[in-house]
Amino acid sequence: MAKMEVKSSLLDNMIGVGDMVLLEPLNEETFIDNLKKRFDHSEIYTYIGSVVISVNPYRSLPIYSPEKVEDYRNRNFYELSPHIFALSDEAYRSLRDQDKDQCILITGESGAGKTEASKLVMSYVAAVCGKGAEVNQVKEQLLQSNPVLEAFGNAKTVRNDNSSRFGKYMDIEFDFKGDPLGGVISNYLLEKSRVVKQPRGERNFHVFYQLLSGASEELLHKLKLEQDFSRYNYLSLDSAKVNGVDDAANFRTVRNAMQIVGFSDHEAESVLEVVATVLKLGNIEFKPESRVNGLDESKIKDKNELKEICELTSIDQLVLERAFSFRTVEAKQEKVSTTLNVAQAYYARDALAKNLYSRLFSWLVNRINESIKAQTKVRKKVMGVLDIYGFEIFEDNSFEQFIINYCNEKLQQIFIELTLKEEQEEYIREDIEWTHIDYFNNAIICDLIENNTNGILAMLDEECLRPGTVTDETFLEKLNQVCATHQHFESRMSKCSRFLNDTTLPHSCFRIQHYAGKVLYQVEGFVDKNNDLLYRDLSQAMWKAGHALIKSLFPEGNPAKVNLKRPPTAGSQFKASVATLMKNLQTKNPNYIRCIKPNDKKAAHIFNESLVCHQIRYLGLLENVRVRRAGYAFRQAYEPCLERYKMLCKQTWPHWKGPARSGVEILFNELEIPMEEYSFGRSKIFIRNPRTLFQLEDLRKQRLEDLATLIQKIYRGWKCRTHFLLMKKSQVVIAAWYRRYAQQKRYQQIKSSALVIQSYIRGWKARKILRELKHQKRCKEAATTIAAYWHGTQVRREYRKFFRANAGKKIYEFTLQRIVQKYFLDMKNKMPSLSPIDKNWPSRPYLFLDSTHKELKRIFHLWRCKKYRDQFTDQRKLVYEEKLEASELFKDKKALYPSSVGQPFQGAYLEISKNPKYKKLKDAIEEKIIIAEVVNKINRANGKSTSRIFLLTNNNLLLADQKSGQIKSEVPLVDVTKVSMSSQNDGFFAVHLKEGSEAASKGDFLFSSDHLIEMATKLYRTTLSQTKQKLNIEISDEFLVQFRQDKVCVKFIQGNQKNGSVPTCKRRNNRLLEVAVP
Ligand SMILES: Nc1ncnc2c1ncn2[C@@H]1O[C@H](COP(=O)(O)OP(=O)(O)O)[C@@H](O)[C@H]1O
Ligand SMILES: [Mg+2]
Repeated sequence: MAKMEVKSSLLDNMIGVGDMVLLEPLNEETFIDNLKKRFDHSEIYTYIGSVVISVNPYRSLPIYSPEKVEDYRNRNFYELSPHIFALSDEAYRSLRDQDKDQCILITGESGAGKTEASKLVMSYVAAVCGKGAEVNQVKEQLLQSNPVLEAFGNAKTVRNDNSSRFGKYMDIEFDFKGDPLGGVISNYLLEKSRVVKQPRGERNFHVFYQLLSGASEELLHKLKLEQDFSRYNYLSLDSAKVNGVDDAANFRTVRNAMQIVGFSDHEAESVLEVVATVLKLGNIEFKPESRVNGLDESKIKDKNELKEICELTSIDQLVLERAFSFRTVEAKQEKVSTTLNVAQAYYARDALAKNLYSRLFSWLVNRINESIKAQTKVRKKVMGVLDIYGFEIFEDNSFEQFIINYCNEKLQQIFIELTLKEEQEEYIREDIEWTHIDYFNNAIICDLIENNTNGILAMLDEECLRPGTVTDETFLEKLNQVCATHQHFESRMSKCSRFLNDTTLPHSCFRIQHYAGKVLYQVEGFVDKNNDLLYRDLSQAMWKAGHALIKSLFPEGNPAKVNLKRPPTAGSQFKASVATLMKNLQTKNPNYIRCIKPNDKKAAHIFNESLVCHQIRYLGLLENVRVRRAGYAFRQAYEPCLERYKMLCKQTWPHWKGPARSGVEILFNELEIPMEEYSFGRSKIFIRNPRTLFQLEDLRKQRLEDLATLIQKIYRGWKCRTHFLLMKKSQVVIAAWYRRYAQQKRYQQIKSSALVIQSYIRGWKARKILRELKHQKRCKEAATTIAAYWHGTQVRREYRKFFRANAGKKIYEFTLQRIVQKYFLDMKNKMPSLSPIDKNWPSRPYLFLDSTHKELKRIFHLWRCKKYRDQFTDQRKLVYEEKLEASELFKDKKALYPSSVGQPFQGAYLEISKNPKYKKLKDAIEEKIIIAEVVNKINRANGKSTSRIFLLTNNNLLLADQKSGQIKSEVPLVDVTKVSMSSQNDGFFAVHLKEGSEAASKGDFLFSSDHLIEMATKLYRTTLSQTKQKLNIEISDEFLVQFRQDKVCVKFIQGNQKNGSVPTCKRRNNRLLEVAVP
């Protein structure tokens, strides 16, 4: 399927008509109505063919966004609604693709939006042309030149807050690819009178205000300025501030732009110094001073300002002061100095200020050009943008308006020329017969002004150069003479009597019928302004300045280059530059933007019809449409034409196979359009009347509606059918699924219900069976229980007697037996150790076993003692018997006893048989010796002791000398009756002998021995075994002994400590022997 491309067109969705050429009927009223209608719908752009009319909206519209740029990029001119971008795109593309230099001519009165339009064109071109670091820098410099020039060349006027007070033409240069290379700016006629005086409600150039409010303290100080505007005579006070304009911020923007454009810091500063100098010049004031010779003279009132100016500019103060007071006229090697009166001095001051400023401005333009000029020498393509003041008609029109209007005449001229030329060329190109076009050619007016011999400008120059008194009046007279017969010149004084009674025409004026209307010029000031006189003394003073920039601005001040020829007048300068401009423009393809100002209030949404009407007239827009429509109102290439209207004919719809041209021919034939209404060119169809085009459009619209209906019908049918089929198919599917789902659901319901019922029934059945089983079980249990009870009763009844007789005792016995058995078994396990001294014994379990338990303990103890004893030998038994005997005898009776328990009883301490000394002694004793020991025998007479061997045998007790072994006494045991001793801890003992026995003749013996206990015990035992009598042993601390005939009392006293631990014995008297025991 072929891709259907929908081409849009200017003709789509038009508000009014987008192209005035299509206006039907065409007259001023319909023209304005159309503009107004579009303006009210925010459509500020309207075409006249390829000319763009722009109505200033005085508000920002959302139609300049980057998206819009993209919309208009590479689109045909008539494809989208009218826009300045369409024109810019067309111009840029034909420059790039067809190698045609372009110029964009923007005209309109002050405040109509020319400068804005030029900026829009530049920004559009900048947006669509090549990119890259270098290119961007060029673009940036080109765009940034605007703020600089606007600061110095724009001012607030009653018509426009940012009115350009100079004409500007800028050539932007491109390479073959369409990338920008650089640019050249030309400036025309800066309105320099504004520097020294501004009309009411207007301001001086922006830069003065920007400098004063935006510069830092430091900078101001350096420039010797003060921030207060009112300090400066050149700044009118009534509108120093402009609404919505921040001068300080703009100052920074300008400084920044200067930097981007390439001004060095020093240059920028120099420029500001010149600005400051101009401001300060305004503050120099003069007072009259009369001299003797009657000549008027002036004097500077306050020299302080002058001094500061001189410091700023490095000019010798005297030189400048003199230049303000004298004027030197040089004529043929003669120098004549005349003094200046106050008026002349002021004139000189203002002339200097104006010149200084306007020359600074030209310098700025040149400086910018230097920065932005193309760096390469390759062939360039050029797009010129002309932003020049439009036609001006004020109440008081002077030289400036005359010049400006002249310029506009020239532009109109070139417009007509180029438009017609273009039109004619197209006709030739398209091979269409040329029809004569009737239009007004303003060449005649141009001639009135610029004719070299009798043109007004030539006349003015002539007057200025003429010797003798020259005034504006003489100039007017001259005009009246020369131009009186000219159709477009009107003057009261002219010889032609036509205007003699015309009171609207004052005597000091002349009137010119410009193509755009009649303008009345006040002749006053023409000569002066044309002369633009600056006294040579001043330019020379300036040239002497140390300030390099100022010096360079006044080259004619150099005395070495004194040129006696007058400089060219302002008029001739302007004429020359306009001529160059025109020549320049003629080589280029023109593109027009005609700006219209909708109201005088700078307000949005107000459309003042009379004001617009006036502008339409002097811009010659109707003229413009007529020229454009002179032959054919509308033309279009065959392809788009066929594309647009092919639906109007069966043969061309929907596809035309042949060449487009024959398609269009068939189409037009079919539609029966009268032959004179159109013409076939080579590539375009030309339509004579807009009516025909609209007819076509109407037909197309209707046909489109029909087609739309048809398409709609078919589409709807198709849509409905497919929809229906889809629905049907879907319905079957849904139904199937639904049925299945419903069945499933029903089945599940039945199933679950069945399960519920089933479970209930089963439950019920089970419970019933359970109840029955439980019942049966209880029945059985009951029977068993009853039977058991019954049997129990029976048995108990049977055995009750038997039980009562025996059972209790038996059970008791059995129980007791069991307890005792358990007791003994327990005891067996808990037996204590076999040691006789072990006191442990298990506790008793039952009270009734108490005696048994004790008895058992006793038996066990006896038994283990016996066991212990059984281990002993006979000898050991003897020892223990002796020890036992000793214990019975002395325990708890004699204090010495405990110390003897540990000593073994040895008996024979002296080894009589082994010692040869005692051989005799041994031989004398036949019996077994039981004791052989050395004892101390106490002397009966004095209580002193002597050692004796004490021997005990089975039958005798013997005493022998310890040294000789000779037996001293022998006592048979039967004669021993008693042994006495104290209860104390001493070894004294007395052996009492039987009275009357042989041994007793000397009396009883008193001994002391270390082994008292052993000796006494053995003596006792031996006596007992031999005599079968118990030896009497007396233990007392006082006892009597028989010494010969005397009975002596032996008394034991305690506590004598004199002889240490040894007891001492002393005979007190016949009856008392004292033993001191420690
Ligand atoms: N296209 C526009 N869109 C919005 N405002 C505009 C437009 N054109 C002009 N203006 C407004 O009108 C004012 C005057 O325009 P300007 O271009 O300086 O006029 P001119 O150069 O013709 O004297 C601008 O400052 C701006 O506020
Ligand atoms: Mg402007």
